[in-house]
Order: sequence, then C-alpha cells, then structure tokens
Amino acid sequence: MLVVVRENYDAMSKEAAHIVASRIRKKPNLVLGLATGSTPIGLYKELIRLHKEEGLDFSKVVTFNLDEYIGLPPNHDQSYAYFMWENLFKHININPANVHVPQGMHGEVRFTTYETDPKIEAFCQWYEDEIKRYGGIDIQVLGIGANGHIAFNEPGSSLGSRTRVKTLTEKTRQDNARFFKSIDEVPKYAVTMGIGTIMESKELLLLANGEGKAKAVKAAVEGPVTAMCPASVLQLHPKAIIVVDKGAAADLAAEFVYYG
Ligand code: GLP
Repeated sequence: MLVVVRENYDAMSKEAAHIVASRIRKKPNLVLGLATGSTPIGLYKELIRLHKEEGLDFSKVVTFNLDEYIGLPPNHDQSYAYFMWENLFKHININPANVHVPQGMHGEVRFTTYETDPKIEAFCQWYEDEIKRYGGIDIQVLGIGANGHIAFNEPGSSLGSRTRVKTLTEKTRQDNARFFKSIDEVPKYAVTMGIGTIMESKELLLLANGEGKAKAVKAAVEGPVTAMCPASVLQLHPKAIIVVDKGAAADLAAEFVYYG
C-alpha cells in the first residue's frame, strides 16, 4: 500500500488524475472503475481538462461505477448515473455503450433484510459477469466514508462480498442528506459492488480529503484488517495507492507516509 500525501484538495485531485491518465495512455481500452461522492469531483475536473487541452482519449475506455441508490431513476439529480453524466461523461469523448452504472430502478422493489428482489439479484449477477467479460477492472477509483465504508459496503460487510443490495446505515444517510431536500428523501438501500468485487480490480486508487476523513484513513491504513472498517481491506491488495490531502492524513503515523 502506497500512501501519497498532497498539500490540498487540488493537488490530491491532480495526483489522482495523473495516475489515471497514465494508465489510459498505456492502455487506451482501459477498464476504469469509477466512484461518486464529493471527493472525486476534482479528479474528474482534471481528467476533463486533460481531455480538452491535452487530447486524453476516452473513446475506447470502458467504465464501471461502484454503486447506485435503489429507487432513484437515472435522471434524478441525486442518482449516481446523473452525477457521472454531469461531472464527467458529458464532457469527454466516452462511448456511452462503454459506460456501466449499476441500475437502481427495478420496478417495484420487494425485498427483506435476508431476501433480495430476484430482479435485483439477476442484475447484480449480470454486473459481475459484465466486469469479467471485459477482463476485469484495471484500476478502481474509491472514496471512503467517514465510517470507513468503500462504495456502499458499510461496516460489517463481508470482506468477500459481491455486487448486491446493501441497507445504508443511519450515519451514511445523514452524511449524504446534504445533497437531498431532507433526510427522508435519502434512499434506504443501494446496489453496490462487493468488497470481493473491488479487491479483484488489478489496481486500487483511494482518495480522501479533509479532516473529517482522518480517522477513517488512519483505521484503513494503520488499523487491523477488519470488516468493521471495510477500507482496511486495501492493506491486502498488492497494488493499492491512497492519495490524501494533509487534512485526511492528519492522524497517520509519519512512517507510513510518502511525501512525494
Ligand atoms: C458515498 C459513496 C462512496 C463515497 C463516500 C464518501 O456514500 N457511496 O462511494 O466514497 O460515500 O463520499 P464523499 O466523497 O462525498 O465524502
């Protein structure tokens, strides 16, 4: 695991964009895993700049997003499909046929905590198969929740989990309520790649900024590998890069940190 600390959000975003762009230049048909949330917006802005000003070519790039809320149509302004379109896809020359964002609308959603809707289960299996059909994800961008979650794999998620439905914790719903009119509008469920799915990506790139993430980053980098901090599983990945700003690095022991 390589931890790279940058001065601020802008420098963190540029570092991450530099890594992603170098992988695309090396392999034009890169299979790129993408994340949502406020953290990767700067990365996407820089990728857009590299496309517009330096000709970074996305025409053959294939993307898979980590997760999506259940119950929001793709044109809902808080759906992750909409987020990706607004913050990245509409600004670059990506082929829409190469874009994959998990589907959050499955007609009438019907499941309990132990039994998911068969339509969603079929979709989750299809998503897993589709990733395999493209030869697996080459590099997966990740954010981290303040509670240590990756994608929507909340604390306690099985470390071997695959794409499936997860119930969102109250903490995650509260954290994400800032994007909705009220907390009542925040969906209770999401479909998310599993931790096992994420770990099969050939390379992982986790971004975090701000002091609000410092505890989660410390637990992920220095803590025990535990399902209670899903991001700690990155310690087991042979090629995991963590790019953080100084705020998110605040609690890290110095010897873990690479000041590049
Ligand atoms: C969300 C997403 C995650 C994201 C995380 C942090 O709920 N499902 O993929 O990494 O929470 O979000 P933010 O970057 O806004 O802090």
